[in-house]
Amino acid sequence: MDLEGLSLVECCIIVLWIMMPAYLANTIAVLTGGKYPIDQGKTLTDGNRILGDGKTWSGLVGGTLGGVIIGYAQLNFGNNFIQSIVNNIPEDLWGDSPFIIFFLLSFGALFGDMSASFFKRRGNLKRGDKSPLMDMFDFVGMAIILTMIFGNGWIQSWLFDGVGPLFTLLLLTPILHRGVNIIGFKIGVKNEPW
Ligand code: CTP
Ligand code: MG
Repeated sequence: MDLEGLSLVECCIIVLWIMMPAYLANTIAVLTGGKYPIDQGKTLTDGNRILGDGKTWSGLVGGTLGGVIIGYAQLNFGNNFIQSIVNNIPEDLWGDSPFIIFFLLSFGALFGDMSASFFKRRGNLKRGDKSPLMDMFDFVGMAIILTMIFGNGWIQSWLFDGVGPLFTLLLLTPILHRGVNIIGFKIGVKNEPW
């Protein structure tokens, strides 16, 4: 994929679009989650849970599958929509092996979220406690890292095309993430607005 030749706004829209499986994997995990804690209730020597009751298999599996399904829906049914917003849409938005990218984005997002919980528990933060920077970047950070390592150059093919991609990932993503969580909180599917 290649974002050169697109305007900054178009570039940001495309980056939000291709990262959608990562963004929604987290949201779907909130809906499917809550059953079978991954750490099985175990604590470490610091007396705190390894991960806590907020990280469950039903969230991890549901969110990963959900993200992959979102990706396929975008790939197969989303073309008209995205083409109506951005002209000259790049070819092969998710590269040659979209399944792998969808998986890495979704699983990466949840794995990042889980890693953050591990560190939160080590810092004596209870389930649901606020940890603003980690909460905003953990999921997108790990999705980027996993696609960089296992995505066969896909993310490197567009990440540094101008300032748009980094601007979107580092600035727009946290703002949107917070926005979605506030909505989730207001409609009652999320316990905290972060
Ligand atoms: N969830 C889950 N399994 C996951 C991720 C999320 O079951 N792997 C569900 C849990 O019900 C969780 C909710 O989604 O409470 C919200 O996710 P998140 O904000 O990431 O968890 P917190 O409850 O805030 O826990 P933590 O402090 O560990 O982040
Ligand atoms: Mg939380």
